[in-house]
Amino acid sequence: MPHPTLLTGRVLRTLDDPFIAAPETALRIETDWGVVLQDGRIADIGPAATLRANWPQVTEIAYGRDLICPGFVDAHVHYPQTAIIASWGKRLIDWLNSYTFPEEMRLADPAYADAIATRYLDLTATHGTTTVCSFCTVHPGSVDAIMQAAQARGQRIVAGKTCMDRNAPEGLQDTAQSAYDDSKALLEAWHGVDRLSYAITPRFSPTSTPDQMAALGALWAEHPDCLMQTHLSEQVDEIAWVRSLYPQARDYLDTYEQHGLLGPNGLYGHAIHLEPREQDRLREVGAALVHCPTSNTFIGSGLFDMAGLMAQGHRIGLATDTGGGSSFSMLRTMAAAYEIGQLRGTPLHAAQLIWLATEGSARALRLDTHIGRLDRGMEADLTVLDLASTPAIAQRAERAESDWDDLFATIMMGDDRAVRATWINGRATG
Ligand code: GUN
Ligand code: ZN
Repeated sequence: MPHPTLLTGRVLRTLDDPFIAAPETALRIETDWGVVLQDGRIADIGPAATLRANWPQVTEIAYGRDLICPGFVDAHVHYPQTAIIASWGKRLIDWLNSYTFPEEMRLADPAYADAIATRYLDLTATHGTTTVCSFCTVHPGSVDAIMQAAQARGQRIVAGKTCMDRNAPEGLQDTAQSAYDDSKALLEAWHGVDRLSYAITPRFSPTSTPDQMAALGALWAEHPDCLMQTHLSEQVDEIAWVRSLYPQARDYLDTYEQHGLLGPNGLYGHAIHLEPREQDRLREVGAALVHCPTSNTFIGSGLFDMAGLMAQGHRIGLATDTGGGSSFSMLRTMAAAYEIGQLRGTPLHAAQLIWLATEGSARALRLDTHIGRLDRGMEADLTVLDLASTPAIAQRAERAESDWDDLFATIMMGDDRAVRATWINGRATG
């Protein structure tokens, strides 16, 4: 048996869903607690004194007042857009054409794809993110690059080849047949290998022909345990474009449903401007929505209705949407979700925000039996937060009236400097 490690400090426990139960009882922050890691899993959790008594052989790493959390789970990203994050002044379709597509072309070079995949996983680890669900580019090598980089780190990730056979530069297009063939080969190569999962990935309805949508729907029907990730109703102009491209469809969601691309393992990014029928249908089939708040403000998309959709019973994850999103940080992403809630008159509690970035996103990815919560038997992915990481946060923390108040200041003002340590698969990174 490998030697166990005991991390002690304040510990975030997840006991219930803070959108159903009262937030402060659903999650708890315990002082002088600890987590025992062994063989890539959480072997024990409890008061530090009890753990020291029960695990006499452990090596203890004492984090004091720092908060030991589940590793952050980023449920919708585009790792190929790492180098063009924070590009100025465009809305969705112009942003894709001006910045995104030219950069994605560069990943045709496998050496460049490897370099960006490594850079991306280094950056996200320093920001406390331990699992991502990523779009790749049209190039199969871009999937190999991120899967190999994650595998070498023992990291749990989900990724898929982005499929497009129209309305994109020629160098970024596949066909209905090659999208099916390449996706199938990649799925067979990577899905379920170590901690890796494959997601079938049509970019969005405007860049796929009905034939390609149907081919990917057929592939999903052959592998229903895979996730299927795409975009839905992000901007008003985009929705009008979809309507003109699919005149037979009842609405945007119907363009997916008509081609076998709506199901319980579907992940629909953005989902801001939904019709009532679309909301009902998504909930009926048990599909997941992914809220990408820094992206929605940065590209000017709109205000996602977190409180309303949660009250209806939707499964919702939280995501940066790097590089349409303007940050690699899930702390910054939680802050943006709070701000969007404020603009809608429904502010989220700190416990709801950190739950969305951990268990909520893990549920969206159907990975919540593996990650997202600190419990015995769960995989050992953890993020340790310094809740006084800058002078500005430290002076606010001095006035904190509760642990939640303390955490909220770091959610609103924190960045990678607040991440004391990131543990992936039971090992400290960096
Ligand atoms: N819709 C289709 N592709 C993209 C993308 O790369 N980023 C965002 N934010 N929206 C999209
Ligand atoms: Zn996206």
